[in-house]
Amino acid sequence: MASKSIALASVFGLLFALLTAYTGDRSGAIAAQTQPMKLAAMEALYDGEQGAPLTVIGVLRPESERRTNDDAFHFKIDIPKLLSVMSFRDAEAYIPGINDLLEGDAQRGILSAEEKMLRGRVAVGELARYRKARNAGDTVTMAEVSRLFDRSTPEGEAFLRNYFAYFGYGYIDRPEQLVPNVPLLFYSFRVMVGAGCFFILLLAVVWWLNRRDRLASKRWLLWVAVWTIPLAYIASQAGWAVAEVGRQPWAIHEMMPVSIAASKIPSGSVTTTFILFLVLFTALLIAELSILFRQIKLGPKND
Ligand code: HEM
Repeated sequence: MASKSIALASVFGLLFALLTAYTGDRSGAIAAQTQPMKLAAMEALYDGEQGAPLTVIGVLRPESERRTNDDAFHFKIDIPKLLSVMSFRDAEAYIPGINDLLEGDAQRGILSAEEKMLRGRVAVGELARYRKARNAGDTVTMAEVSRLFDRSTPEGEAFLRNYFAYFGYGYIDRPEQLVPNVPLLFYSFRVMVGAGCFFILLLAVVWWLNRRDRLASKRWLLWVAVWTIPLAYIASQAGWAVAEVGRQPWAIHEMMPVSIAASKIPSGSVTTTFILFLVLFTALLIAELSILFRQIKLGPKND
């Protein structure tokens, strides 16, 4: 019975671990195009590189010492060009670093953070002008501002592209606010991907040995398999940290920072909802574990 269960679990586990790696790889490529700062922070890439390497493991220096690629790490192990390949399917693709995204690079068409903040403030100002005009019943100004948001006119198209595209930057006070927590992202990403690769290896080995009827004699491997169960939850949390910490400071990328997206719900309501969820999920956990343990104690039916 155990052998049959393991056969089924290892095949499904392996298929889904491969699928997870595939979707993870796709997510990385999409993040490279849509959220370059997240990618740069995940890799602790300070200066943009053509044919950028992927850091397999590394130990970061303290924040005050990290300014360029040369002083970012105590030590690291790289795979040459892999970051460019994974991000843009091109070994020579250019990956902008944190410094490029903050300071801008005219040659590559990257605006500096300061410039984006200036343009964002113009867009925020126009919306404020509209609101003020509406409150005062000033239809002439309302029509004037509305024209800026009309994509079908050259004036509207230019305003939307050059100013409104940076709307969220209008609420940013300092360029450094645009850099998410580099160590948290860097290490979380490596925990997730490391776990993902380990799952693929472990499940393939377990499936193979089980097929050849040699798994039961490898007790150490059975223990490794049991202790790998929590790793799936840890990898999930690490992935969630990559996605959520990496998108900071944005609630909506480049449009709305978290600081202005925060709602005015009283903290008491949040506490109550949190406690309700805590009680509900703890009750479900206790129920699930007691059913599991009861079944384990009963053991398999020997028909
Ligand atoms: C094996 C290689 C893997 C790669 C290359 C990979 C890559 C990624 C990337 C790039 C993201 C960020 C997506 C974004 O922010 O837009 C991500 C998010 C995530 N990953 Fe992975 N991952 C891998 C394995 C895993 C494994 C094994 C798990 C869990 C068991 C996992 C769970 C997650 C979760 C929960 C998220 C957050 C999704 C979200 O909230 O949008 N990943 N992964």
